[in-house]
Amino acid sequence: MRDGLVLSLVATLAAVVAASDYNYSHVLELSLLFYEAQRSGKLPIDNRIPWRGDSALGDRGQNGEDLTGGYYDAGDFVKFGFTMASTTTLLSWGYLAYRDAYEAAGQAKYALSAIKWAGDYFIKCHVSPNELYGQVGDFNLDHTFWGRPEDLNMSRPAYKIDTQHPGSDLAGETAAALAAVSLVFRDVNPGYSSKCLEHAKQLYRFASQYRGLYHEAIKGAAQYYDSPPPLSFNAGIFITKVCEEISRSVQRTALHRYNFACSNRSATDDPQFLDEAEHHYMKFRLKERPNEFFYNKKVAGVQILLAQLTRQPDYMEAAQAFCDFTVDYQKKTPKGLVYIDKFGTLCHAANVAFVCLQAADAGISPTKYREFARQQIDYMLGDSGRSYVVGFGHNYPKQPHHAASSCPMRPAPCGWDAFNWPRENPQLLKGALVSGPDENDHYMDKREEYVYNEVTLDYNAGFQSAVAGLRHLQLEAFENNRT
Ligand SMILES: *[C@@H]1O[C@H](CO)[C@@H](O)[C@H](O)[C@H]1NC(C)=O
Ligand SMILES: *[C@@H]1O[C@H](CO)[C@@H](O)[C@H](O)[C@H]1NC(C)=O
Ligand SMILES: *[C@@H]1O[C@H](CO)[C@@H](O)[C@H](O)[C@H]1NC(C)=O
Repeated sequence: MRDGLVLSLVATLAAVVAASDYNYSHVLELSLLFYEAQRSGKLPIDNRIPWRGDSALGDRGQNGEDLTGGYYDAGDFVKFGFTMASTTTLLSWGYLAYRDAYEAAGQAKYALSAIKWAGDYFIKCHVSPNELYGQVGDFNLDHTFWGRPEDLNMSRPAYKIDTQHPGSDLAGETAAALAAVSLVFRDVNPGYSSKCLEHAKQLYRFASQYRGLYHEAIKGAAQYYDSPPPLSFNAGIFITKVCEEISRSVQRTALHRYNFACSNRSATDDPQFLDEAEHHYMKFRLKERPNEFFYNKKVAGVQILLAQLTRQPDYMEAAQAFCDFTVDYQKKTPKGLVYIDKFGTLCHAANVAFVCLQAADAGISPTKYREFARQQIDYMLGDSGRSYVVGFGHNYPKQPHHAASSCPMRPAPCGWDAFNWPRENPQLLKGALVSGPDENDHYMDKREEYVYNEVTLDYNAGFQSAVAGLRHLQLEAFENNRT
């Protein structure tokens, strides 16, 4: 670590990424199109997805509150607040860290719009200080349907947390997301930025004062979660197994980070957040090396955020332990992909790539971690012999497990026939990163094989942020060469 600190960061850049075979700017553009295709609610006139229209315009809270908008979680049509918030935090983190990459790619405008689409929805869901909707749509009912979101007509109940049914993990995650959105919009839309921050602070207080796990609070959902494991295609089913306390402290740290660290202007001057984050880090022993970085396993992110914020040896060493383990000892496929889980294989690898790019930016083993991140991402873009990003590169996935894109153009009917149709999806779901290969680099491009071909909001988030990080390094390297 200390060697890393004294290394000149720029000197290591050129060798690592300058010569990549892949157009990272183009990948950013595509990934943002994937998010656009996942939009629920009334679409703006500048919608770029020709096969998408307005949908789920009847989404309402228990007292008739407007809950339209937000994103569909995956290839189905439930709106899960938890993964949406986690996705938003990670996209915002990547944007704040690597804005130059988005700007150089001409994608800053689309990134802002993707982030705001989620922020607007969270604000709608936060109907009073201690009341937050965390899910719209009934999972079982939703899964009786295969077709277009524009044709949804089943009832879509909404589930919330409140003081009687608290959910610190969900409230905290949403607080972190809104704080991150607030920072993203500091310059471009100060009014919106303060509004997001105000909601973030209220949600943070709600999470702290009323403790509980949201999947216990949202009873309507819990009855499905508690049924025998539905080996469902939706990676967004989150029976979150994270300990309530850890989860809460993780969220606090994230909130703090976005308030204080991503830019030189704090969103709030209240030092309470860092104190509490450090307190929880000790209390809940977050020092232990995690195995992964995932929407429901955030400790690795906490460690690196605290390292960046404080530069304290404890956090720096924890971040280094995680990345060294990941690079040197984590299980890998024969072709070198980090293999953590069969669900979201590529997402897991992209997430650790992003976290270790962040560690590199903090001066920890920069060359080693950047080379690792490039290798993981380039595996997904083609080094493995194929692309795993729909619409990009060589032999990309043709049958993502995604109902809307499996349908012909409207007004042709669409239903389970489309699910069973043994040919490529009629609509190109540009930019979607599929779940990925198994531990032997084996992959099946079949719609029903969701273990390989699932697509979700959170699968793309760390990936997009890591790609932005690699593009950022290229820009720095080019700049360095010129001067
Ligand atoms: C990379 O992709 C961007 C966006 O699609 C495009 O404008 C640019 O020309 C591409 N660059 C190269 C070198 O092909
Ligand atoms: C929903 O659509 C299906 C198929 O078009 C139809 O059979 C059903 O009656 C509709 N249900 C409602 C509640 O409108
Ligand atoms: C942060 O802001 C302060 C006051 O505006 C300024 O003096 C300082 O140089 C800035 N630090 C960095 C790292 O940009």
